[in-house]
Amino acid sequence: MQNIQSYINDHKDRFLNELIELLKIPSVSADPAFKDHVIKTADVIKDSLLKAGCDHAEICETDGFPIVYGEKIFDENLPTVLVYGHYDVQPADPLELWDSPPYEPIIKKTDIHPEGAIFARGACDDKGQMYMHVKAMEFMTRTDQLPCNVKFMIEGEEEVGSVNLSKFVKNNQEKLKNDVILISDTGMIAQDVPSITTGLRGLSYVEVEVTGPNRDLHSGLYGGAVANPINILTKMIASLHDENNHITIPGFYDKVEDLSDEERAEMAKAPFSLEGYKNSIDIDAVYGEKGYSTNERNSIRPTLDVNGIWGGYIGEGAKTVIASKAYAKISMRLVPHQEWEEVTELFKSHFEKIAPAGVRVKVKPHHGGQGYVTPIDSLGYKAASKAYNDTFGKTPIPQRSGGSIPIVSLFEQELKSKTILMGFGLNSDAIHSPNEHFGVWNYFKGIETIPLFYKYFTELSK
Ligand code: BES
Ligand code: MN
Ligand code: MN
Repeated sequence: MQNIQSYINDHKDRFLNELIELLKIPSVSADPAFKDHVIKTADVIKDSLLKAGCDHAEICETDGFPIVYGEKIFDENLPTVLVYGHYDVQPADPLELWDSPPYEPIIKKTDIHPEGAIFARGACDDKGQMYMHVKAMEFMTRTDQLPCNVKFMIEGEEEVGSVNLSKFVKNNQEKLKNDVILISDTGMIAQDVPSITTGLRGLSYVEVEVTGPNRDLHSGLYGGAVANPINILTKMIASLHDENNHITIPGFYDKVEDLSDEERAEMAKAPFSLEGYKNSIDIDAVYGEKGYSTNERNSIRPTLDVNGIWGGYIGEGAKTVIASKAYAKISMRLVPHQEWEEVTELFKSHFEKIAPAGVRVKVKPHHGGQGYVTPIDSLGYKAASKAYNDTFGKTPIPQRSGGSIPIVSLFEQELKSKTILMGFGLNSDAIHSPNEHFGVWNYFKGIETIPLFYKYFTELSK
């Protein structure tokens, strides 16, 4: 029976070329201008699932972009793995910061990826990582080594909040019934430090609008005598953190669970170089909440960040003007137990309350989701750990991530199963940034590790 390494070797070029073709389609879910491309990508995924050995695959229409569903069920008595991933990508802007066009994938060597990395929007998040599962499936079906049932659910709206997927999951509990959910849409600590993501942060995303006078004013004639919405907005935003970088919204921390000293000590054992961290993003100092380490700040602590801010004159030269309106987009990363809808409400009432006379404030909630933590003694975690042990020769380290995949907590709530997050990306792969890439080595390592997860999960389930 052919083993996975030799199968990858025989099909290396095709595996890369198929991914490259997929990356050429600009499936940006956030921007309506890309609508046709997003829909086209769903068709390509559906075909790839059938070619990989699914007995059945379909496009499930939603009020937004379609969900691709595929399955191979051959024995009701065997466990079922549900694979989730997303085929939509973030906008590639700002285009001028890319060294090569985002939808013309090229393979280039980097210091971290001496075997080369594929540069394209979506290479790592999540087309490359999702497609590892399709190719692992191909290997298992073509070589008769699929040990259990498989379902695939690949959506096209993850980057815009998975609103329609939530409805789909709630309405299709029987169809999606499974014993474990498997996702590759996170990262690992380093090439030689495999890790399994055991936590995700929740999210509350809001947009705020501050309105002052009913029209833009001459900043000489009116300046100093009316509230300037941009001045006011920045002042209000600044007040959301205190001198210790604690968030000042009343009630914000009420449901935040403090980790025990033991848990924090365990976390601190994960390899981490502060110098390397600073160098990798060119900063001379880290910054954050007092009393917590960098790794704690970006995983087990909630945060509030402005993601965009605008208003007034931003064209060439100088225009003397007091704008009528100012805007900002603000995200709050949440930790398990914080209810995102409740936090959104807390933000809204606080923000409205701190607005001074002379301006009006509107808070518009966008989307959100709950955080997630998963235990390390579940069957799924043990199976994943054994799989990594085989392919990396090391036991993977459990790690809570700072990112969010809001649908994961809904999976647990609706489908009553645990999610295992086997990520193969690196922080330096620049997801959501210009020059996103995914290591060729990581791509093949993922394809190599995934079939072992199926094998061990099936064995452990007996
Ligand atoms: N794959 C990422 C999330 C991620 C990346 C988690 C790396 C852990 C490690 C996902 O596509 C993403 O970008 N999620 C968004 C949230 C979504 C609601 C827009 C995020 O985290 O900003
Ligand atoms: Mn993703
Ligand atoms: Mn993303």
